[in-house]
Amino acid sequence: MDYDEMVAKIENIVNTPMREFNSEELQGIVERYEKNHIKSKEAFERARKVIPGGVEHNLAFNYPFPLESKKVWDCYMETIDDVVLTDYLMCGGPIILGHNYKPLTEKVVNTIQDFGCCHGITHEMEYKAAEQLQKYFPSCEKVRWLQSGTEADMLAIRIARVFTGNKHVIKIGGSYHGWADQLVYDLHIPGTLRMESHGIPKPVFKYIDSCPPNDIERLKEMFKEKRRVAAVIIEPMGGESGAIPVEPSFNKQVEEVCHANDALLISDEVVCAFRLDMGGGQAYFGYEPDISVFGKIVGHGYPSAAAIGGRAEIINTVAAGVGGGSKRAYCGGTIAANPLTCTAAYWAMKLVEETNATKIAGKAATRLSNGMNEIFKKHDLPWFSYNYNATVHFHTSCVFGIDITDPTQAPQIKERKEFMEEMGAALVDQNIISVAGSRFYTCIQHTDEIIDETIQKIDEICEKIE
Ligand SMILES: Cc1ncc(COP(=O)(O)O)c(C=O)c1O
Repeated sequence: MDYDEMVAKIENIVNTPMREFNSEELQGIVERYEKNHIKSKEAFERARKVIPGGVEHNLAFNYPFPLESKKVWDCYMETIDDVVLTDYLMCGGPIILGHNYKPLTEKVVNTIQDFGCCHGITHEMEYKAAEQLQKYFPSCEKVRWLQSGTEADMLAIRIARVFTGNKHVIKIGGSYHGWADQLVYDLHIPGTLRMESHGIPKPVFKYIDSCPPNDIERLKEMFKEKRRVAAVIIEPMGGESGAIPVEPSFNKQVEEVCHANDALLISDEVVCAFRLDMGGGQAYFGYEPDISVFGKIVGHGYPSAAAIGGRAEIINTVAAGVGGGSKRAYCGGTIAANPLTCTAAYWAMKLVEETNATKIAGKAATRLSNGMNEIFKKHDLPWFSYNYNATVHFHTSCVFGIDITDPTQAPQIKERKEFMEEMGAALVDQNIISVAGSRFYTCIQHTDEIIDETIQKIDEICEKIE
């Protein structure tokens, strides 16, 4: 599906009344959820007494309550209620070989046996994993390992400021770059600016601005207004991992604007690397960033895996060491680059290549997305699906498409978000777990048979829509 068609479909959905579940069907979905997941509910009640909100991970919010896992393997997740779910959550993207992929697990276990978790001096896997990353990302002449995507994005903007001597950083509306103070700005729905920024003083955003998605002319104007721009940071597929789809030439145009103005382009590859393309968003869309940011999938979900990479002269500003007063970007991290993480990263990248995982998971995603579109058409729904290789989006209530400046659309955020939660519950009702009722991540364990079964179940869900 080409970009213009996606935009037209999104506009159609947000400008027409929302298609909803038949109320009796919805009641049935919720009742079955309650009945089939009694132990999860009890566990949630216990957890919420000690954990704020009862869950620790934004992905774990499920309506009407979160589920608790007992076991995960391949593309399946079993809950403590003995319900086996086909998993398209994939921990929010990092898993592409499947859960507990034995050849990777074995390598990590061997490392733990020899090294424990961390010890504080160098380990060969640090540079081997960096070399491996560089193989797919030639723009990364130097690589530094970090502990989360959030941390890597935070460091990327710091490095950009040190290197250029400029302060302004521009992000794209709706994009997510983790939860560091300065980047909790204009999240999810473009134009929402500081809506999610509670607890972050306004001055923190003095040098952070947001450009509407795909609006290259506005970006050029912003460069004229700000003049001293250190960097533009992008999510290559568009905001929220492509839920707000990118115009295919946009990233390249951003690169040109940055370089014409001596600013850096930061490509946040946290979701794209190895999932969109072995070479991430930059290979897929054909542009050359100055700094690339990696997380999650770079270590196939093993803890503390993240990195930044880029041109040597830029990344060298983060050279390790304490003190000195030289012009450098301060950076730390006690357990960064530990043997476990770097072993996971090195072998994950190797195994993704050896198994052709990016292609195979992408093929599964295309099958799923095409199948869903046929089902939506069959049921005469305005909904649609598209995939950026192994990431599938399906827009139903399309909350990300809301134009916050439109007085008829803005008040619909709550109900459209709630519908996505109901869709998530309807999928669980069919033993499928999704990302927030609007996204599926695929892996090499999602066979054609599993995909077809999922499409059939989505057909059953669509029967319940009025
Ligand atoms: C594009 C992008 N950047 C950064 C992050 C933050 O990574 P982490 O959750 O490891 O801090 C995420 C997480 O979802 C992401 O999707």
